[in-house]
Amino acid sequence: MSASTTATRENEGGRFSHVATGDLDVSHGVVLYLEDISVSFDGFRALNKLSLSIDIGELRCVIGPNGAGKTTMMDVITGKTRPDTGSVFFGQTIDLTRLSEAEIAHAGIGRKFQKPTIFEQHSVFENLELSMKADKRVRTTLLSKLSSAQKDSIAETLKLIRLGDSADQIAGFLSHGQKQWLEIGMLLMQEPKLLLLDEPVAGMSDEETERTAELFVSLAGKHSLVVVEHDMAFIEKIARKVTVLHEGSVLAEGPMEQVQNDPKVIEVYLGR
Ligand SMILES: Nc1ncnc2c1ncn2[C@@H]1O[C@H](COP(=O)(O)OP(=O)(O)OP(=O)(O)O)[C@@H](O)[C@H]1O
Ligand SMILES: [Mg+2]
Repeated sequence: MSASTTATRENEGGRFSHVATGDLDVSHGVVLYLEDISVSFDGFRALNKLSLSIDIGELRCVIGPNGAGKTTMMDVITGKTRPDTGSVFFGQTIDLTRLSEAEIAHAGIGRKFQKPTIFEQHSVFENLELSMKADKRVRTTLLSKLSSAQKDSIAETLKLIRLGDSADQIAGFLSHGQKQWLEIGMLLMQEPKLLLLDEPVAGMSDEETERTAELFVSLAGKHSLVVVEHDMAFIEKIARKVTVLHEGSVLAEGPMEQVQNDPKVIEVYLGR
C-alpha cells in the first residue's frame, strides 16, 4: 500500500472499523465495488443481487425505469440504507457497510441530492468557503483567515462551476441551475474521490443542461462519478460506459450505442 494510512477505532455500533485517513487504496484501479447487494422494503426487493464496479476516474451513467433501484443503490453506497446481503467496498479496503453516513462522507464519497442544499443567505464564495475540507481540530468560521492555497482552491472551483462572476452574489438569488452547480462546487471543496449525482439536470434549462454536461466531462479523470439521469439527451452527451438497472439488478452494461440497441433495454425503458 502507498501513503495510505488507516486508523482503527470503535464506531457507534461498537464494531471496529477501518477508516481511511490518507489516500484511498485503489491499487486495482477500482474505486467502488458492489457485490450481490439485496435490499427489501416490506418484502419488496428494491435491489436484487446487484453487482457493479466503478473504475477510478470513471464517469459512469446509470439509467433505468422508475423504481429500478437507482436511488436505493446510492442510499446503500452512502450508508443511508443497509443492505440485507452483499458487500460494498470503497477502494480495496474500506467496507462501507460497516461505516456510518458521516464516516462514508469523510472517507471521500460526496452525494448530490436533487434539491440543492446550499446556504441561501450567504454569498456564493462563502458557500464554498463553508464547505471546504477543514482540519476538524480547528474550528473554521467565516471570520478565520483563508490561506492563499485555500483562496486558490475556491477560485478554481468558482471557475469550474461557471460562477466566477457571481462570487459575491447571495446564493438564494441564483437560478435553479446555478444553485445546482454551486452545490456540486461545495461537494468538490471536500475533495471527494467519488461523486454520486442523482438526477442532476432535472429542472434545468437546455443551456444549463449543456453546461452541466461539459462540467461532468471535465471532472471525470480527476474524480470518479456515478450519474443517474432520465434525460437521455444529457446521458448521450456525457456517456462512456452505461449501466441499465431494472428491477434491482443490472439489465445491460456497455457503451451507449450498445445499450441503446439492446432489445431488452428498449423493451423495459428506452422504447416506451
Ligand atoms: N424507504 C423505502 N421504503 C419502501 N419502499 C422503498 C423505499 N425506498 C425505495 N422504495 C421502493 O424501492 C423501489 C426502488 O426505488 P428507487 O427510488 O431506488 O428507484 P429509482 O430507480 O431511483 O426510481 P426513479 O427513477 O423513479 O427515481 C421502488 O419501488 C420504491 O417504491
Ligand atoms: Mg430515484
